Amino acid sequence: MGAGTTPQGIVSEREAARWVRTMFGRVAGRYDLANHLLSANVDRHWRAHTVRRVRGILRRPDARVLDLACGTGDLLFAMEQEAGRALIGSDFCHPMLEQARAKIAAAGLRSVLVEADALALPAPDESFDLVTTAFGFRNFANYRAALGELRRVLRPGGALAILEFTQPPNALFAAVYNWYSTKVLPIMGGLISGAPDAYRYLPESVQKFPDAAELADWMRNAGFAQVDWEYLTFGIAALHIGRVKSD
Ligand SMILES: C[S@@+](CC[C@H](N)C(=O)[O-])C[C@H]1O[C@@H](n2cnc3c(N)ncnc32)[C@H](O)[C@@H]1O
Repeated sequence: MGAGTTPQGIVSEREAARWVRTMFGRVAGRYDLANHLLSANVDRHWRAHTVRRVRGILRRPDARVLDLACGTGDLLFAMEQEAGRALIGSDFCHPMLEQARAKIAAAGLRSVLVEADALALPAPDESFDLVTTAFGFRNFANYRAALGELRRVLRPGGALAILEFTQPPNALFAAVYNWYSTKVLPIMGGLISGAPDAYRYLPESVQKFPDAAELADWMRNAGFAQVDWEYLTFGIAALHIGRVKSD
């Protein structure tokens, strides 16, 4: 099995993907509430920051934009508002997309949702000018294959933005944060979502995920140029942006 998410007791990429899809399906109805409460709404700032970093592309009227692993759609909708037009969101978990669909209807949004696996996108080569993914990438069953697939669907001059949890670089802060995420988060997340295993998986998957510098190297190795990244909120999260060279 190549590097990708490995929930406890899972031995193949196919099983890992199925586990992840089922788990998000169980928490879909409470996902937004749990997210905003457990992060004290900081997650909204991370998405808003991501939108600011890619707004040059979003404001181009002809730019084709995909928000991958869009879940209930918070990054997708923030980008739609910035762009002022319909964008595309995709996810492989039907109940998460149902939540997104309800938000589109309630708020009069226009984005289009596609049910698809990030590792096998139903899109021709060089389809998009921007692909974003927020807190989705870490859950993919094969990171190298995912980067290859994202590189494939991006046009020359396009960009990939990955917003993801990471390991805080300061040892003292990391110790406090790890205590919160391994001891407090599973209990509170379990109470809010009804799925404590989902909130045990979260810190485990972050600990197994490549650190921010390593992820940047993986992006370079997958063919992305000018990869830069920054820590957000003391390194709880990181935003990586890589570009595809223009022809
Ligand atoms: C933590 S949620 C993030 C949702 C949303 N992007 C956000 O910022 O709130 C992770 C999402 O990734 C999706 N996901 C995980 N693996 C996937 C894959 N291989 N293909 C498509 N979606 C995937 C899950 O279904 C879930 O909706």
